[in-house]
Amino acid sequence: RRQLTLALLKPDLCANPNTISKIISRITATNHHNNFEIIRQREILWRQQDAEAFYAEHRGRFFFERLCGYMTSGPFTALVLARQNAIKEWRALIGPTHPWRARMNAPNTLRSHYGLTDTRNSFHGSDSDETANREIEFFFPELNVDAWRRQEEKEAA
Ligand code: TYD
Ligand code: MG
Repeated sequence: RRQLTLALLKPDLCANPNTISKIISRITATNHHNNFEIIRQREILWRQQDAEAFYAEHRGRFFFERLCGYMTSGPFTALVLARQNAIKEWRALIGPTHPWRARMNAPNTLRSHYGLTDTRNSFHGSDSDETANREIEFFFPELNVDAWRRQEEKEAA
């Protein structure tokens, strides 16, 4: 059975449309590591208050202001991705939060290839079913996740 997750391609990537299409091709490539279906895709431009709301759990951390500054520095791409174990597999594909750690320990990941700094790390992925629900609702309030799941179960039956 497939699962949904929320992915962000952060502003530094979206400055170059070729980068986005390259990443999309990799995400959707039909092999064991990738093979995500893109259920929704939207270009987003945040105001300061949107960044602060999405990252509310990090308010007060040393990186909070620069994280919100980065995420409001230009447009970025929000995606809803589907596959088996989408939440875990997407986080595996993007790699560790810190790009330098990705380069050391997970060289074939997206953050290893594209990430710049701990803050400008180019990708986001939901970390649980609960956060995926909340984050999908944040960007795609019109997507009925429960209906999508019912349809998946019907097709799997
Ligand atoms: P976090 O949820 O810990 O990482 P992840 O994105 O891998 O789930 O942190 C959210 C974002 O906050 C992270 O993607 C970038 C920023 N951040 C920093 O800028 N510096 C840091 O040291 C950490 C931990 C996060
Ligand atoms: Mg996180």
